[in-house]
Amino acid sequence: MTGANIYGLKGRLISLALVALVLIITFQWTWKKKPFARTYLPAQEWFNKPSAGLLDEAPNNPMGTANLTKGLLPEAPDNPLRTAKHTQGVEKSPSSINDVETREHLDNDSTVPIDFIQAESPQTQYDQNISRKEVCSYAKGRWIADSRRPLYSGFGCKLWLSTMWACRVTQRPDFSFEGFRWQPQNCDMPEFDRFAFLRKMQDKTIAFIGDSLGRQQFQSLMCMASGGKPSPEVKNVGYEYGLIKRRGAPRPDGWAYRFPKTDTTILYYWSSTLCDLQPLNISDPLSNVAMHLDRPPDFMKRFLHQFDVLILNTGHHWNPGKLNANRWVLYVDGKPNEDEKLAQMEIAKNFTVFSVVKWLNSQLPSHPRLRAFFRTISPRHFFNGDWNTGGSCDNDVPLSHGSEVVQEGSKDLIIEGALKGTKIKMLDITAISELRDEAHISRYSTRGILNASDCLHWCLPGLPDTWNDLLVALI
Ligand SMILES: *[C@@H]1O[C@H](CO)[C@@H](O)[C@H](O)[C@H]1NC(C)=O
Ligand SMILES: *[C@@H]1O[C@H](CO)[C@@H](O)[C@H](O)[C@H]1NC(C)=O
Ligand SMILES: *[C@@H]1O[C@H](CO)[C@@H](O)[C@H](O)[C@H]1NC(C)=O
Ligand SMILES: *[C@@H]1O[C@H](CO)[C@@H](O)[C@H](O)[C@H]1NC(C)=O
Ligand SMILES: *[C@@H]1O[C@H](CO)[C@@H](O)[C@H](O)[C@H]1NC(C)=O
Ligand SMILES: *[C@@H]1O[C@H](CO)[C@@H](O)[C@H](O)[C@H]1NC(C)=O
Repeated sequence: MTGANIYGLKGRLISLALVALVLIITFQWTWKKKPFARTYLPAQEWFNKPSAGLLDEAPNNPMGTANLTKGLLPEAPDNPLRTAKHTQGVEKSPSSINDVETREHLDNDSTVPIDFIQAESPQTQYDQNISRKEVCSYAKGRWIADSRRPLYSGFGCKLWLSTMWACRVTQRPDFSFEGFRWQPQNCDMPEFDRFAFLRKMQDKTIAFIGDSLGRQQFQSLMCMASGGKPSPEVKNVGYEYGLIKRRGAPRPDGWAYRFPKTDTTILYYWSSTLCDLQPLNISDPLSNVAMHLDRPPDFMKRFLHQFDVLILNTGHHWNPGKLNANRWVLYVDGKPNEDEKLAQMEIAKNFTVFSVVKWLNSQLPSHPRLRAFFRTISPRHFFNGDWNTGGSCDNDVPLSHGSEVVQEGSKDLIIEGALKGTKIKMLDITAISELRDEAHISRYSTRGILNASDCLHWCLPGLPDTWNDLLVALI
């Protein structure tokens, strides 16, 4: 062995080691830049990702660039997003969902509109990109007649629809208000598909917390998700959330139902002001109740970690009449409020909306799966008086005051202001709903307070279905 040979061998070893080192470093660097395991997840798994419909809002989402999205889709020839096959596969063994209906539904709907991106045809799908979604404002657009509406029957959805809101079972003779859908200006509105919706919401919990208008939206979503058909397999799981009817109470504090095949839970908790309410004397049923303006309802704090989608609303209970009737006493910072300004209802409401938004926003980092929404105020349409002075909303001609919303920004300045700079999204239904004065219960209220019209609540099926269309598009 010569020295040269030894050095040659050593040299080769060193070279090999260097090459290996370079390879390792390159690999690690590539891995970090482009983690294959995440980027090339089967399309099926992306499908189930909660963030898949929110590309613009998930900075760490590897699909969050147009290039990667484009790269991913063509490589998955059996991409379930683009074929109806997938739907069939998932819904193949329904114990409750009628096969015939499922098939019919597929034949008419080869591109299952799962969310905004998938609502496009395969061809235009590739051309989708994020900027398109960013300019899309669901609150601007117009109402258009749609013979595929309503999405469920006001007679059929007996399990979840309160009879007081099911206008089909009242004396109301005209139902043209049922036949409209909202067409946003710069974006496509995915046609609601209850199978796709439930699949997307697999193992997820959607919670509405708010007043009776929130309850209307909850009932609407239950009817939409079930198709308004008798669905005894949907389980009442109210007990899991303590939502049971207590002795002496006229009704439970809320309701919760679970769709068994997808384990999707939809619930509603009654909290008309989004304040924590504490009786001042628990042993006295007629006790005054502390209404803590700066504390969110206990229920919301307790179950927040179980929610995937939360929709808050408040508005119409902020008046002295409601407060007095409920014996609610304003509290701030754990003490009775002494600030006269804050005692004014609009100011108190604004204070609470800001408080609850601030609290909820502070919870989002520790609840990464939660998507939080605040629904803007639902407009009232009492003409020639108020609810208790003979006010009415007798127009039954849809869109007689116009069908379009063109304004930028929300008409609900309080909620828009409170959400600014937070991660809580606005479900802006105010201007849209203002155009629909004919869609209230009107004078056909079955629980009417002596000849009074209900120009606050809406007929179901009806307008709140559109609020849910918007919600589903935003999830
Ligand atoms: C996408 O690819 C194009 C070229 O194909 C490139 O110019 C652009 O910067 C890329 N965009 C992103 C977000 O990576
Ligand atoms: C599907 O389309 C056919 C004809 O185009 C129609 O008769 C049927 O009612 C549609 N089904 C659904 C569920 O829309
Ligand atoms: C995204 O869409 C906009 C508007 O449709 C278009 O101008 C832009 O070039 C697109 N960007 C990419 C990367 O495709
Ligand atoms: C609470 O209510 C009970 C029953 O009305 C009454 O006996 C009791 O004195 C009350 N307690 C206080 C501190 O007011
Ligand atoms: C609502 O409260 C916020 C925060 O306290 C305040 O900045 C804003 O001016 C208030 N708006 C109204 C209309 O009272
Ligand atoms: C109910 O209200 C209508 C119009 O507001 C009025 O014409 C009618 O007389 C009222 N009926 C009763 C019983 O008060």
